[in-house]
Amino acid sequence: MAEIGTDIQKAKDIIENGGLVAIPTETVYGLAANALNPEAIASVYRTKSRPSFDPLIAHLPSIEQAERYTLTWTQKASKLATKFWPGPLTLLLPKRDIIPDMVTSGLQNVAVRIPKNKLTLELLDRLTVPLVAPSANPFGYVSPTSPVHVNDQLGGKIPYILDGGSCNIGLESTIIGFDKKDNATVYRLGGLDLKTINNEIGYVKVTAHSSSNPKAPGMLKSHYSPSVTVRMGDISQRLESIENVNRVGVISFQKEIEAIPLKNQVVLAPDGDTSTAAKNLFSALRYMDTLDIDILLVEPVPDRGLGRAVNDRLTRAAAT
Ligand code: TXA
Ligand code: MG
Repeated sequence: MAEIGTDIQKAKDIIENGGLVAIPTETVYGLAANALNPEAIASVYRTKSRPSFDPLIAHLPSIEQAERYTLTWTQKASKLATKFWPGPLTLLLPKRDIIPDMVTSGLQNVAVRIPKNKLTLELLDRLTVPLVAPSANPFGYVSPTSPVHVNDQLGGKIPYILDGGSCNIGLESTIIGFDKKDNATVYRLGGLDLKTINNEIGYVKVTAHSSSNPKAPGMLKSHYSPSVTVRMGDISQRLESIENVNRVGVISFQKEIEAIPLKNQVVLAPDGDTSTAAKNLFSALRYMDTLDIDILLVEPVPDRGLGRAVNDRLTRAAAT
């Protein structure tokens, strides 16, 4: 198992020697490596069993640093970065040659973001290189929102997990790209909700539901999947055709489902807040994988706030 601790110097030493460290962010834990070291990057892909066509996000400590690795910024990109970084937002920008092609899977744009976590920002500040950091889970599985989640699956493969506690937001960053006319497109719904983005830059197109979009291969239709079979829809209605309720798990939005044993249930947001649902979603999916059940029933949450991003993840968890 990996060591879990708050030793930034130790994390720095491992990274500088080409090793991997799991790092906390406000969204999910990342599997970090030196973004300028092709061998270290290769080891990130290997450790996650991630296909090489699925590019990585470069994490940086400041806009000035981000500018060192990117070529041109549209007005909207600058506006969003200034307003929301550090925060749950990733921007797709034309890369400079210094970023290895392995980071972007050969694409011209590199994904960049400044994460909002004290330990990780301090680590990024002390390093002289950016960090690539995909979510610290095996490819296709649910993203980790705590050090224990990381350790459960990747603990045997990495030396160190920087412990920032549980992630505040609990959903991956929102990914936005821009065309030549500075029209913005959301490629992944995430921790920064659409309304907040609209308030800053007006209309943005959303293509995050595409299942074969080369711009964001991580948005594959089936993703964020626990091992148990997931079905999404009205839970009570689905239960009508199920005989043995003891073999059913339930993730509901605000209220428990009476017919189901309590230990087989997680209520995402007793307070009715979609941000609470976002924060609890991934640990709920992981919990369901520890139960002896045949099927997991989930219901959509209200579309407001982070609800749309939560529903996106639930839909993908249920996709086969
Ligand atoms: O919140 C997050 O973004 C977390 C934390 C650790 O920062 N990271 C994360 O990374 O979710 P990952 O690798 O699990 O998801 C990154 C997504 C993938 O869907 C990938 O296809 C897309 O970003 N992506 C990365 N670079 C890209 C690029 N150059 N062009 C288009 N999509 C890109
Ligand atoms: Mg991921």
